[in-house]
Amino acid sequence: MTPEEASATAREVCGLAPVIPVLVIEDVAHAVPLAEALVAGGLPALEVTLRTPAALDVIRAMASVEGGMVGAGTLLTPEDVRAAKEAGARFGVSPGITDRLVAACEEADLPLLGGVATVGEAMGMLERGYNVCKFFPAEANGGAKALKAFAGPLPQMNFCPTGGVTPENAKDYLSLPNVLCVGGSWIASSDLVNAGKWSEIEERARVASGLKG
Ligand code: 3PG
Repeated sequence: MTPEEASATAREVCGLAPVIPVLVIEDVAHAVPLAEALVAGGLPALEVTLRTPAALDVIRAMASVEGGMVGAGTLLTPEDVRAAKEAGARFGVSPGITDRLVAACEEADLPLLGGVATVGEAMGMLERGYNVCKFFPAEANGGAKALKAFAGPLPQMNFCPTGGVTPENAKDYLSLPNVLCVGGSWIASSDLVNAGKWSEIEERARVASGLKG
């Protein structure tokens, strides 16, 4: 997959809804009801972080949920990329960028939403041919103000800010011309998931899917 193809798919993923829920799931039994609740609430793009032993099985299970678009987050190594692809992830998200990680995604045909934190890193992604990336950790790196400033010299780069995004500050990001969507864990927080509160998660998803800048 070329960087241009990867960027086009990343752009499609980011265009599905204003928010990509970031999911940390411990129990594979939660995968299907959680994905169904999020899709029903209007959030089809789902980022399952590879931070739990169950994550790959969760991706496998969620991949069968109609209307969903399941991706793998917290990709750190080429091995993570290959395992995520094999489990059925349709896109990948990483907190940062390395040459090996980007190459592995291109080889595995896994569209990458790679994390950048600075203008220099965003320039590095543009040099590689990518025009969509994640901005991480968004709030700690200056938040919407920083991204607004990035748009001056780099108007061609688009972002999915993640890390510290809340229902309160999401609109500040979504109103920027260089922001396609935001990522956040508040929609399916661990306490709601572990308590099986699917209707509350669906309601949070519905509210998030209606967010506009
Ligand atoms: C993460 O890596 O956990 C994501 O960036 C989500 O961050 P959040 O919990 O601040 O939404």
